[in-house]
This record gives sequence, C-alpha cells and structure tokens, in this order.
Amino acid sequence: MRKKSILIISSGGREHAIGWRLAQSSQVDTIYFAPGNPGTATIGENVNIPATDFEALIDFAKKKKIDLTVAAPDDILAVGIVNAFQKAGLKIFGPTKEAAQIESSKAFAKKLMKEENIPTAKYEIFADAKKAKAYIKKCKTPIVIKASGLALGKGVVVAQTHDEALAAIDEAMVKKVFGNAGDEVVIEEFLEGKEVSIHVFTDGKHIALFPTSRDHKQIFDGNKGPNTGGMGTIAPLPEISKEQLEEIKQKIVLPAIKGLKKRGMPFVGCLYPGLMMTKAGAKVVEFNCRFGDPEAESYMRLLDSDLYEILTACVDGTLDQVKIKWAKKSACCIILASAGYPTNSHKGDVISGLENLPEDVVVFHLGTKEVNGNVVTNGGRVIGVTATGTTIDKALQKTYACINKKGIYFNGMQYRKDIGKI
Ligand code: AMP
Ligand code: GLY
Repeated sequence: MRKKSILIISSGGREHAIGWRLAQSSQVDTIYFAPGNPGTATIGENVNIPATDFEALIDFAKKKKIDLTVAAPDDILAVGIVNAFQKAGLKIFGPTKEAAQIESSKAFAKKLMKEENIPTAKYEIFADAKKAKAYIKKCKTPIVIKASGLALGKGVVVAQTHDEALAAIDEAMVKKVFGNAGDEVVIEEFLEGKEVSIHVFTDGKHIALFPTSRDHKQIFDGNKGPNTGGMGTIAPLPEISKEQLEEIKQKIVLPAIKGLKKRGMPFVGCLYPGLMMTKAGAKVVEFNCRFGDPEAESYMRLLDSDLYEILTACVDGTLDQVKIKWAKKSACCIILASAGYPTNSHKGDVISGLENLPEDVVVFHLGTKEVNGNVVTNGGRVIGVTATGTTIDKALQKTYACINKKGIYFNGMQYRKDIGKI
C-alpha cells in the first residue's frame, strides 16, 4: 500500500508532538509542517506557508496529494479552515467553524451547557457595558469576567474586587482591547478547586477519552502571576478515580458531543473541556476545540497506538472500530519560556543542550528559530521538555535534571519548578 503524506498546520509544540507521534506510524512516510519550526524540520519538511493562508495550503495539499491534514490552532478553526478543506474535497482532522464555536464563542458554549444540563459556573451574558456593571455591583467577589470571543488566552479576568471587575468591563467593552471578541462579555461565578484537562478523540458520534492531565497556567510558582498559554503538564492525574472520569464522560463529554450533533454541527476532532473539580463535582470552566498545548506534548509521550489510524477514523466516522491504547506510565512536559514572557518576550538567545539528550527525554519546539546554524529563542514559550516514568515524580525528576547550564539552557529562561506539585 502507498504510504501516506500528512500536512500539519502551524508551528507550536503541540504540532511538533503530533508530528513526532505520526512519524512513528508505519503507514506514514512524509510529514509537512506549514510553517513549522527548527524542531519539526528534524522529523519532516517545513513549508513556508502561513497557517492563515488557506488558499495556499489547499493548493499545496492538492499538489502534494496530501492524505490527511491536521489543524489545531483555535483561530484558524474558528474561521473555517476545516470547511475550506472539505469544500476542496480534502481530508482534514478538526472541527468545522460551526462546531468550533464551542471555543470561539463563550456565549455559545454557555448556552449549550445550560440547554444540555452540563455542570458549569452560573453566568449572565451582556452586550451592554452599563448593564454588565450594574449586574457586577449586585454580585459577590471573586467574580470572573470573560470576553466572549477568542482573545489569545488573555480575555479572562478573575477579579478579586468589584473595582477590578468593573475595570475588566471597561477594558473589554469600552476600550475594546480584544477587538470584537469583547462585544459580548460572560460574567460568571468563581469556581474553587483544582483544574483538570480532559481530552477526547471524537468522530462526532463516538468518543475515546485520553487519560486526565493538568496544565499550570500562571507564569510563577505557587500559581502566581499572570496567565500564560500554559507552563507545564502532567498526565495522568493520580487523584482522579475511574468513577470520577466516568461521571465526567456521562455528565460533560457525551452531552456536549450529542448536543452539537443535535444542532446539526457534529464535532469531529479533539474536544478538550477544561474543568474545575469543585466540592459539588466537576464543572466546566471552558471548552476548547483542539488539543491543548502543552497537554499534547505529554499525551503524545503516552499514546501507544497508531495516531494516523485514530485521526483518519475520526474523519471517516469509524472511531468505534479503533482500539486506543495508552502506556501505563506517567508523562510530563516542562515549558521553558523566554525572558519577560508573558508581558513581553526577548528573542534571539541561543539555546544549548538540545542534542545528546538523556534516554527517554524528548524536546518539542514552541518558539524557536534557526539563525546562522544556531537554534535561538523566538519569543513566548520556547521549548517543552518531556519525559516519562513509572510515576509522575520519576518523569519530573528526569525532566528537571536536564534543565540547567550544562543541559538545556538559554539566557533569561523562565520555567516553573513546581509542575505536578501543586
Ligand atoms: P478560560 O480561558 O475560560 O479557560 O480561563 C482561563 C483561566 O481562568 C482558567 O484556566 C482558570 O484558571 C481561570 N478561570 C476561568 N473561569 C473561571 C471560573 N469560573 N472560576 C475560577 N477560575 C476561572
Ligand atoms: N493548555 C492550555 C491551552 O491549550 O489552551
């Protein structure tokens, strides 16, 4: 049988990890990344097409007879990359823009949860700043203010006081710092508990849950400082029981998948509900319409089945015929971010120690660039260092042991020392 060609769109650590796993499939021989990064160049071919240029991506996929395209970034899913590929008769893994509204419109997601009885924070939606402020004054704090649209992960404010909440309304609705994403604002109850990331593969009808994982969103140890894209993950979480996971499946995942199908927008791809484990049980903080980054980096280290087979089964509607195995061990990913992140980011620092890594340590690139034969930082989150182990502690020990001046290092690098401990 002819071996398959894959196109992976974008250039994050998630894309590198997905490509790394696909490269191990006996059915796959060529992987293109558009545009990719120096890490993806070691396992495939980088193509200089931006993720947002759908026309050029479709032309490329046709010319190279691509068998499967994988699209994960939320912004391109929200504006219909999957619809565009489908219209051109090309196979692509990911949700249509209609189904992707579960992430791209928090107002849409909240309404879906209310109608399908999915546990989530109590909320109100406002399109008028005055009404939103009047409502806030009646609520107790902390309270959470969310721009409804996509805002690069920066549209959520957990306000400790009324003044902070009112200022968040001004930013989103009056000053429009998130553009149209702040036309509508969701104001919701603060949920107390630990966060859990759930991921499922789905073909729109059938689902397959991944092990649980946890991201660490804030920049500093102790969950302090501003939110980031995610500073590190562990998987699976030892404290979540089989019974709890089954309850999450029945009360959250299945109603969401069935709810979208019922509304004529079946979700195909990877659905990622972010949950808060409250005293009253698991509640949805947000739905994402894609793999998390850096969740994907840990997950790809644990997946023990052919990823090409799984992704095509999702697209073909035959996920029930695939058996998905996860290694019975733990994985972690520690993110190294550039100096100044997330407020601003330094670029151009040479990264050392990426070669001759200890056994079982795998590095995925998020924000790197090649300059004069050196791999240098390109701002934001730079590198994800991963390892596995019989326990999370063992995986963490192995990973942290190679992050230092003699190992993986760059000037000003920031990373959390408490991943998996909090
Ligand atoms: P989101 O973009 O909706 O995931 O929100 C970003 C982060 O804000 C989440 O990962 C949580 O840490 C926090 N957050 C969002 N909504 C709530 C809530 N209702 N209660 C407590 N924390 C929240
Ligand atoms: N890990 C956070 C995200 O991908 O949204």
